[in-house]
Amino acid sequence: ANSNPKVWATRWTFILAATGSAVGLGNIWKFPYMTGVNGGGAFVITYLICIALVGIPIMMAETALGRHGRHNPIQTMFELAKENGASKNWGIIGIVGVLSGFLILSFYSVIAGWSLSYMVDGVSGVFPSLQGDAAGEHFSALIASPGKLILYHTIIMGFSAFIIARGIHEGLEKSVRFLMPALFVLLMLLLGYSAFTTGYFMEGIKFLFVPDFSKITSEAILAGMGHAFFTLSLSMGAIMAYGAYMPKDAKIGSTIVTVAFFDTFIALVAGMALFPIVFANGMEPASGPGLMFISLPAAFGQMAGGSIFGTLFFALVAIAALSSAISLVEPAVAWIIERFPVNRAMATIIVCALVWLLGLASVFSFNIWSEIKPFGKTIFDWLDYVTANILLPLGGMAIAIFAGWVMKKEIMEKELSLSHGGFTLWRWLIRIISPLAVFIVFLNSIS
Ligand code: PHE
Ligand code: NA
Repeated sequence: ANSNPKVWATRWTFILAATGSAVGLGNIWKFPYMTGVNGGGAFVITYLICIALVGIPIMMAETALGRHGRHNPIQTMFELAKENGASKNWGIIGIVGVLSGFLILSFYSVIAGWSLSYMVDGVSGVFPSLQGDAAGEHFSALIASPGKLILYHTIIMGFSAFIIARGIHEGLEKSVRFLMPALFVLLMLLLGYSAFTTGYFMEGIKFLFVPDFSKITSEAILAGMGHAFFTLSLSMGAIMAYGAYMPKDAKIGSTIVTVAFFDTFIALVAGMALFPIVFANGMEPASGPGLMFISLPAAFGQMAGGSIFGTLFFALVAIAALSSAISLVEPAVAWIIERFPVNRAMATIIVCALVWLLGLASVFSFNIWSEIKPFGKTIFDWLDYVTANILLPLGGMAIAIFAGWVMKKEIMEKELSLSHGGFTLWRWLIRIISPLAVFIVFLNSIS
């Protein structure tokens, strides 16, 4: 095992940390509700195609760029541009990435806080009382309370700061070694519960895997692609930062396939666990973002063992969100440490305090600022929309072009360690297919 403070102990710790980053609210909250809204199976297939053709190649590229640069994402992009004889402006990718990460974390932490709040409510036995309108009212009461939202947002940011301040080995590695197995066990318990007690398991499977292509709109395709970026934590510096700590001899190609497999597997299992619960209780799969915070708690309240499993479910969500949040703190912290004469603890405090402050805008957009809707969306909706549907796809496209056209072929070949055929395929995907896919999907959605 490696004791270099800037390198993961083993390839498996990278896998755990990168999977920790990837698996989050995207898998357990966003993926099921987007699937519900976009009509089920056809959306799932669109999303899987985006993961395979665009997500995985770009995730490999980001990891390889990170490891080759061995710095924070901003400095890495500037140095790689220089090393490969390209314009310094490519460095902007790093800056925009770290900034997007900031924006995402600011609202991500607020939603993670909702899960924590439901977990606490679950412990006090609230689910059985959430019948009929009570479930919606419970949720409305939570988001109407700036104090509660700020409290839980602060707890999430506080935990993230604590982990990141302790560094790569003592903080990141130790936390994911505990969090990821816990997440897996909880998810399997929930799947078993859903499969054996609801009686609607097959309805859930059909909804997820039997496509109805008449339901596919260009908006749904953009959403599927944006989500492929979001769910794999791409174009925000997170994976590039984690890649910078990867041992030199680890094979990036196969490692990333493993991480992407886990992320996809967990999203699908979350869907398989949740939809039967939704159907068994006669609820609408297309209820949108409220699916997890209104329909599910109500459903848990009606079921035998629902209080316990509901509480475990929200614990699972909070854990998944925490291991993602830390990966959004690390890139900015790494940048500050390398760029300014500041230690890790101080850099962590600066980053987390700024993100916390920005998070208040999301908090208030659910209550005291809920009427402020420039162009019809609240601040929270704008942050989500602009990051997932614009910044991430464009950032990903820029990374693909950089890795495919600017980076020297030999460097990428060596870093990825794919088979000959695998590398040829990767190069086609990264140079042509993924930039083109992003471009077309993007044009389609704005026209
Ligand atoms: N991938 C995370 C999820 O699915 C979200 C995330 C995005 C985390 C970017 C880190 C960086 O929830
Ligand atoms: Na994810």
